[in-house]
Amino acid sequence: MALIPDETIESVRENNPIEDVIGSYIHLQKKGSTLMGLCPFHNEKTPSFSVSPSRQMFYCFGCHASGNVFTFLMKYENMTFPESVRVLAERAGIIIPEGEESEEERRKRSTREQLLRIDKEAAIYFYHALRSDEGKDAYSYFADRGLSDETMKNFGLGYSRKYRDDLYKYLKGKGFSDELLIKSGIISFKEETGIHDLFWNRAMFPIQDLNGKVIGFGGRVMGDGKPKYVNSPESEIFLKSRNMYGLFIARRTKRDYFILCEGYMDVIALHQAGFDNAIASLGTALTEGHCSLMKRFGKKVYISYDSDEAGSNAAVRAVPMIRAFNIDCFVINLSPYKDPDEFIKALSAEEFEKRIEEAENGFLFTVRKASERYDLRDPGEKTRFFSEAARMLLTLSAGVERGAYLSAVAEKYNVSERDLKNLLIKESEVLSRKPVRKIISPDTENIISLNEDNSSKTGSGLQKERISKGMAETYRMFLHYLCSVPGMLERSSLYIAEEDLPGVYRDIYVVLKNEILAGREINPARLISLFPDEKGQQEVGRIFSFTDEDYDSSEARGKAFKEALLRIKKERMALLSGDGGDSAENVYNALMDERRKLSDIQRTEFVI
Ligand code: UTP
Ligand code: MN
Repeated sequence: MALIPDETIESVRENNPIEDVIGSYIHLQKKGSTLMGLCPFHNEKTPSFSVSPSRQMFYCFGCHASGNVFTFLMKYENMTFPESVRVLAERAGIIIPEGEESEEERRKRSTREQLLRIDKEAAIYFYHALRSDEGKDAYSYFADRGLSDETMKNFGLGYSRKYRDDLYKYLKGKGFSDELLIKSGIISFKEETGIHDLFWNRAMFPIQDLNGKVIGFGGRVMGDGKPKYVNSPESEIFLKSRNMYGLFIARRTKRDYFILCEGYMDVIALHQAGFDNAIASLGTALTEGHCSLMKRFGKKVYISYDSDEAGSNAAVRAVPMIRAFNIDCFVINLSPYKDPDEFIKALSAEEFEKRIEEAENGFLFTVRKASERYDLRDPGEKTRFFSEAARMLLTLSAGVERGAYLSAVAEKYNVSERDLKNLLIKESEVLSRKPVRKIISPDTENIISLNEDNSSKTGSGLQKERISKGMAETYRMFLHYLCSVPGMLERSSLYIAEEDLPGVYRDIYVVLKNEILAGREINPARLISLFPDEKGQQEVGRIFSFTDEDYDSSEARGKAFKEALLRIKKERMALLSGDGGDSAENVYNALMDERRKLSDIQRTEFVI
């Protein structure tokens, strides 16, 4: 990689005040000479993230993340150092000569830039078509659905004409190559049919990223045809799990919550009615990626999915996922109307506002939905429902939160708190018995002492731990993914603590965590040099040379990562249950805590 001169880097830094850059991501409030906000690098509800304009630094009192404006972008956007410099240079209008980029960097950047240009040109083209003679039907379609001209403009709505390669010809005329146009997904190529446009006679919804750049489209049939929507396929610039419809506007809302809906039309109708905080996932169910995106803004989430069975099932799936990110979440009841669009048209924005005020707590909503599967007049079914409710309560963190929900559930379903608590203990015993298995398997590879440092000589020196071949490989895989995608640390540290890894793997984990939190690029040579002993160096080497060619899709890698997390948790639980040294109560509490993390992992989808 070619080097960017130090003077250029300095000037980029000086021209990008850290408070402005971070302020565009996170809501910051002035406190004396510094600015405070919710830390984007760990879960918290009260601000401990500080930005100092005088020192041009950020520092989190909670998780100790710190750094300068470049480090912030590297951590937050998962960028490399040169990428962060380039983005900030562009922001400040500083030109970095092309020659200072490596060939590969340049190619990647230029593909992305060209794809953005293609979508931008296409958006303009559709936009004008909507306002042309041929677009009359589409314009009335939107108008008949109650959209004002201003709303159509705000969302850049458009129309794709009735020709098979109309847009293709237009974009060719702008000089884009076939290869790039096909990469963009809005032009398709098939052996039988040749090159043609993806959208044909549809009402067009451009999809914009956080910064308002068009990255894809949804096209709706005007009437009852099928498919109802055609969407741009994923591409280098269009990742469905990293973007949400309407978020480029909603991110600036003054309200302290988002309204999460299902469809493009719902978002637009809500915005038109004054709810500038409405967003939707893009033609897919809600994912972890969407939750982590919403988490950035420190807002609550009000789910406003369709009131039919599918919508309510989707909400039941969404609630625990959102809650796992420590986001407060509520569910809006729209009945008897189908979706927010219909609701507002039939009633009014004021009535919708009332439904927001009456929204049901997300967790209690999922319990209520579960209760509907039982006939509560039948004693047997009632007992089974309470067992299920107890298992749901077990997914909450022990302590105040679980206690509060336990009381709420007991009151609502008319059972004594004591009875419910007893069920909880019974269910937790059932759960905690499951994962226990022998930790010393016959394929034990080598014996690694848990306490290779001095403490082993002084204290519990006899404590030797055997690590099976399988577990060693699991720890390596886990560390390997952290090295290759440092952004995963934020997710995985919700579940994996240092104590979960034994011996040398724990040492490597600690070092790796420090490197990632300090915003340093993960450099094998540097990491190796941090381990003076041979065993450590050897393990670091193995972790870096770990190949994952068996996992060629991000989905498969996500699965492998999840599997590693689960194994680590189960091993930890097995160790805990075999721990004779601690009081039964402590072991029990620790086990419950681990059990909860285990089920969090099970419910989570990882994308690497
Ligand atoms: P809906 O069918 O509820 O559509 O699908 P909608 O946005 O409310 O549109 P109207 O009001 O019927 O016109 C919800 C979302 O699911 C995705 C789209 O993102 C849509 O907005 N979807 C739906 C598709 O991607 N393809 C489809 O064929 C249908
Ligand atoms: Mn809908």
